[in-house]
Amino acid sequence: MTKRRPLIAGNWKMNGLKADGLALAAGVAAKLKAEPNVACDLLVCPPFTLLAGVIDAVAGSGVAVGGQDCHAKVSGAHTGDTSATMLADLGCKYVIVGHSERRTDHGESDAVVKAKATAAHAAGLIAVVCIGETLAQRDAGQTFEVNRSQLRGSLPEDATAANTVIAYEPVWAIGTGRVATPAQAQEVHAVIRAELAAIQGPAVAERTRILYGGSLKPDNAKELLALPDVDGGLIGGAALKVEDFWAIATSA
Ligand code: 13P
Repeated sequence: MTKRRPLIAGNWKMNGLKADGLALAAGVAAKLKAEPNVACDLLVCPPFTLLAGVIDAVAGSGVAVGGQDCHAKVSGAHTGDTSATMLADLGCKYVIVGHSERRTDHGESDAVVKAKATAAHAAGLIAVVCIGETLAQRDAGQTFEVNRSQLRGSLPEDATAANTVIAYEPVWAIGTGRVATPAQAQEVHAVIRAELAAIQGPAVAERTRILYGGSLKPDNAKELLALPDVDGGLIGGAALKVEDFWAIATSA
């Protein structure tokens, strides 16, 4: 089996004012500088207002920075939006697309998510493409089908293991404290990897990182991150504390 280097990614969502956000970023950078041999890649995705400051705060540390969303176009009359090109220009390496909160709050379809991921690639960014079923879909026995279909709809044609990361985030586990069991996570991750293999071939699927997200905490990280098809985490609440985020990173 290919060894995939885990990615531990913090999605700060709409949290952080200048003082605490920059301190959080500097704290994560300091941890990595003190322990550079940690066995994972580290990424923080602060709100847009903090991107420039966070990029400065982590400079030279090895911590990567990403946006939480981007527009599908490079520039133009799109008030309030930010393009992938702008994120790359600032120094971002990644961008999250298709988070369930964007799909719900902003009505983003798979086609929109795919267009955003394509724009991210064109700008030289790594797209973190999020998929995941709701509780109603899980209860209706549609988990595999929903994730397969979101993956097919959201994955750009030019996706490779180098420019794309998949994040499986069961909507019922996000911010609820209700984490997927290791068996639930592994079975969906395996389905996603099998679907990736069907779309892109087994070699790409073997190398593509699939992150788990949803109430990932220091006390449940170890068993989830040890699963064969879980290649890291996309972390919300626990990414807002240096100690918690670092504890998850060191259990990867
Ligand atoms: P929580 O870790 O707060 O459940 O959030 C998960 C998430 O949505 C990360 O993108």
